[in-house]
Amino acid sequence: MELVNKSVLVTGGAGFIGSHLVDQLLLLGSKVTVLDNFDNFYVGKERNIAHHVNSPRFRLIRASVTDFDTMLDATDGVDVVFHEAGQAGVRYCIKHPQKAHEVNVTGTLNVLLAAKRQRVKKVIYASSSSVYGTPVRFPLEESLPTNPTSPYAASKLAAEKYCLAFAETYKMPVTCLRYFSVYGPRGRPDQVIFAFADKASNNERPVIYGDGSQTRDFTFISDVVSATLLASLREESNGQVINVGFGKETRIDKVARMVLEYYGSNKEPELREGYDGDFPRTLCNNSKARTLLGWQPKVSLEDGLKVTLRWYDERKNQAVDVRKAVTE
Ligand SMILES: NC(=O)c1ccc[n+]([C@@H]2O[C@H](COP(=O)([O-])OP(=O)(O)OC[C@H]3O[C@@H](n4cnc5c(N)ncnc54)[C@H](O)[C@@H]3O)[C@@H](O)[C@H]2O)c1
Repeated sequence: MELVNKSVLVTGGAGFIGSHLVDQLLLLGSKVTVLDNFDNFYVGKERNIAHHVNSPRFRLIRASVTDFDTMLDATDGVDVVFHEAGQAGVRYCIKHPQKAHEVNVTGTLNVLLAAKRQRVKKVIYASSSSVYGTPVRFPLEESLPTNPTSPYAASKLAAEKYCLAFAETYKMPVTCLRYFSVYGPRGRPDQVIFAFADKASNNERPVIYGDGSQTRDFTFISDVVSATLLASLREESNGQVINVGFGKETRIDKVARMVLEYYGSNKEPELREGYDGDFPRTLCNNSKARTLLGWQPKVSLEDGLKVTLRWYDERKNQAVDVRKAVTE
C-alpha cells in the first residue's frame, strides 16, 4: 500500500507525535483527518496544526476517542488509522488513573471497533516502552515479559492487548509500536528535557527525581515518524508488536548536564526523592523494526537535543501551563 491519495485518520493528530506524522502524511499526498479533543493536559496544540487548516487535503474533527459514534463517522472511508491519541505522562496518570484508563483503554477499544466496522485497512497503535516496567534483562526485546509499574503503563499495555486480540480474533491488520522516550520540537512540556531546560535556561538547577542513574533510550521525532509510516506500509507488521527506539541508553543526570552545557551554565542538577511508578532503565533492541520495517534510526541525542532546545527557546512560554496540570 502507498500513502499517496490514501485517506488516513490521525487520532491525537494535534499532539507532539501526531502533528509531526500529519506533516509527513500531507507531504506524501495523503488525505488527512485529525481527530483530537485538544485535551487540557497541556495547552498550545492548535499551533501544531495551524499551518494545515487551509489545505484541501486536511480535515479537523474536534472530538474525543471515547465518543464511539464520532469514531464511527471519523473512520468512514478511511484506509489507515494512526492511533496517537492518548493520555500521556507517567506522573500525571499516577494522579489520574481513571482518566488514563478511559482515554488509553476505552478510547483504543473504540478506535478498534470503529475501524473494524468500517473495514479500515490498517491500524497503527502508539504503544510505549513503559509496558516493560522492570524487565528481566536488557536490551529490551519484544519477546520479554511485560511488567507495568504504573497506571499509565498498565493502560498502554491493556490497549496493546486489545489490538492483538482484534488482530487474532477478527484478523484485523493492527500493529503496535512501542515508542521509546520520543523527543523533539513540539514535545510535550512535561517531558524531562523541557523540565531541565525550564531551569537551565534561567540559570537554575534542573531537578532530577531519583539519583540520576536511571536511563532512557531517547528517540528523535523524525525517526519515530519514519518507523510509523513504514509500519503502515508493510503487511509483515500486521498483528505485531515492534519496538521503536534509537538503541542507546543515556543516564538522566547526563541529559541534565547536556542541557546545562547547552545554556552555558555551571550549575549542578538537584536530586529529589524519586516517585513510585518510575522505571529504572530503558534500552531498546530495535532489530525487529530494522528487519521487518527496513527502518534505521538516524538522529543521535547530541544532534536531536540541539534542535529540540533551539525550538524550546523560540517557544518558551508554552511550558508554563502544563506545570499546573501535572501538579493538580
Ligand atoms: N512521547 C513519548 O515519548 C511517547 C512514548 C511512548 C508512547 N507514546 C504514546 O504516543 C502517543 C502520542 O504521545 P505524545 O507524546 O504525542 O502526546 P501528546 O499529549 O502530545 O499527544 C496526544 C494527543 O492526544 C490528544 N488527546 C488526548 N486525549 C484525547 C481524547 N480523549 N480524544 C482525542 N484526542 C485526545 C491530545 O489533545 C494530544 O493532542 C500517546 O498515545 C502516548 O501514550 C508517547
